[in-house]
Amino acid sequence: MGPSKKTAAPVIAAVAMAAVALAQQQPIQAPPAGAGAPQAGRGRGGGRPEAYPQHPPGDPAAIDRGKATFGVQCSFCHGSDARGGEGGPNLIRAEIVMRDQNGETIAPVVQNGRVDRGMPKFDLSAAQISDIAAFIHTFRVGGYDISRDRPPTIVVGNATAGEAYFKTTCSRCHSATGDLKGLATKIEDPRSLQQAWLMPGGGGRGGRGGGGGGALTVPPVTVTVTMASGQKIEGRLERIDDFLVTLVDSDGLSRSIRRDGDTPKVEIHDPLEPHKKLLGTYTDKDIHNLTAYLVTLK
Ligand code: HEC
Ligand code: HEC
Repeated sequence: MGPSKKTAAPVIAAVAMAAVALAQQQPIQAPPAGAGAPQAGRGRGGGRPEAYPQHPPGDPAAIDRGKATFGVQCSFCHGSDARGGEGGPNLIRAEIVMRDQNGETIAPVVQNGRVDRGMPKFDLSAAQISDIAAFIHTFRVGGYDISRDRPPTIVVGNATAGEAYFKTTCSRCHSATGDLKGLATKIEDPRSLQQAWLMPGGGGRGGRGGGGGGALTVPPVTVTVTMASGQKIEGRLERIDDFLVTLVDSDGLSRSIRRDGDTPKVEIHDPLEPHKKLLGTYTDKDIHNLTAYLVTLK
């Protein structure tokens, strides 16, 4: 193992391209008859759409642009219909999204990210985020959940081609007879398995519990803070925003350090950085083949 511990600026383009690949793999099926009816027990409001702020219909051109950007940048984690499940939470029912009109409350989350909790930050303009908001607001809160209606199998690739791809791309860090031995026994569901290798830990840390990565352990994101005096404080990243970085040091002590611009220097080390970089390099075919190969690792 041992990918280089580099400063981790999230590799958005990479995530983005994989998102396209992933989205293309998940044909959206038409909802069965009567499925449009609000379902009971869907969180707050018990599935009464009228309990939520209504958004006026958006500009179709903005919705189209927003849909495209969302598909590329966000659907990888939040699902192609924004209802979550791929490592990011359901956005349709998120307070922040419900309060939002034109992207104004969504923008701070997107532009600053919540890197400590698996949401990278994105270099998107207010206009682009407003388009994304227009798209997200087209979904009805109590609507039928298309993202749950998935095709029965995703194992459509060629395992031999997948093995060859594994050898050239993955084997410098992993081994089918070593650390990944029995992978398909640990994660039986091929879709979860695919998600686990595409983005170990599911993008969100701790967010996917028993889902896909349940049997797997992903090392935490750590941070090194270099004080003006030169003193270095290191530990597991708890949270970070523009004003404060909180870490847990090797003694288990939680420490919060004030931030003011670039002082002190903060370096984030994400063990999954190589995976995030790789995301942008897979083609649809690679993904299918590799998954077909990995499901044979029993
Ligand atoms: C790598 C996975 C990932 C990607 C890509 C991603 N998000 Fe997120 N997002 C998350 C996670 C995880 C959270 C939950 C963070 C937390 O616990 O506060 C989140 C939270 C959010 C929230 C706040 C929800 C709430 O309830 O507070 C919004 C809004 C949001 N994301 C929008 C977006 C948009 C828009 C994009 C695309 C530009 C995007 N996200 C891309 C993982 C992702
Ligand atoms: C530069 C090193 C590197 C490369 C290349 C790499 N990975 Fe990983 N991978 C990691 C690290 C680090 C983790 C974190 C957890 C761990 O150590 O298992 C990980 C985790 C995983 C996991 C979760 C396994 C577990 O037990 O936690 C899977 C599955 C996985 N990678 C598959 C792949 C596949 C498939 C490829 C090739 C497409 C690949 N990786 C390429 C470094 C790498």
